[in-house]
Amino acid sequence: MAHPLPVTAPREREEPTTPGPRPARGGEERRSSADELPLFAKVRSYRSAAEVRATGLYPYFRTIESAQDTEVLINGRKVLMLGSNSYLGLTNHPKIKEAARAAVARYGTGCAGSRFLNGTLEIHLELEAALARLVKKEAVLLYSTGFQVNLGVISTLVGKGEYIIADKSNHASIVAGCLLSPGKFIRFAHRDMAAMENRLQQIEPEAGKLIVVDGVFSMEGDIIQLPELCRLARAHRAVVMVDDAHAIGVLGEHGAGTASHFRLTDEVHLIMGTFSKSLASLGGSSRRTPRRLIISSITRVR
Ligand SMILES: Cc1ncc(COP(=O)(O)O)c(C=O)c1O
Repeated sequence: MAHPLPVTAPREREEPTTPGPRPARGGEERRSSADELPLFAKVRSYRSAAEVRATGLYPYFRTIESAQDTEVLINGRKVLMLGSNSYLGLTNHPKIKEAARAAVARYGTGCAGSRFLNGTLEIHLELEAALARLVKKEAVLLYSTGFQVNLGVISTLVGKGEYIIADKSNHASIVAGCLLSPGKFIRFAHRDMAAMENRLQQIEPEAGKLIVVDGVFSMEGDIIQLPELCRLARAHRAVVMVDDAHAIGVLGEHGAGTASHFRLTDEVHLIMGTFSKSLASLGGSSRRTPRRLIISSITRVR
């Protein structure tokens, strides 16, 4: 699902303001003077979330008091979970929990450093090799979230004078990656291949181009028309990247995703995945050919 912005009800002003800095005596005084800072003006006047809450229909940030499963506890009541992305029901699976316990017992609870320096564990490499086998790609690089895959890969790969061609319904993390890139960001109407072709035709033939789309779209739930997209990418010499957050574990051979579903693995150059949905955990991965892309990511991703 797209990430909703965290919103809280606006704080009422508690005391009259006085111009100029206040003496920093108590924590309370420091907080209220920060409340008056100009940048926070929009926060003070923000009302939408409180208004929706007052109707009783505010859908976000419900607190779950049990394990993620087909039924969960909310406010002490057992309710059906219809919004989960744990497509394979693995999040609460005894074998997965046991494997997590064994990993913590052996390696501790963190990496104590970035992958780049002292944070690469042998289990990272094992997992990367297993994922590469699943999706039949040459190499895989793990990230700490799927969001970071899209930020890191797109902004590193597409440079100045190059182009990103993106579906308008792409996930927020793809949009964030596109905005971070110095390349030109062009969008086409959702799943409209004629519009995509039209955008490609307007770009100089020799310019570097990345077409990036969700495999299964997170809001609409529909699937990209990958055969037509790949045909156009080939004709215009564009690189294809598919965000398979909602397709890994669901579509394709052994859950290998959208490219596998359409038998187009060789034509999709970059496959993005996340562990926060079917794969019952947290983290992200990018699977790609050729292998040297991995080396450039490890050393250049922000
Ligand atoms: C299509 C899509 N891409 C990327 C992400 C980001 O994945 P993660 O939760 O691992 O940051 C999500 C998650 O909401 C998603 O739905």
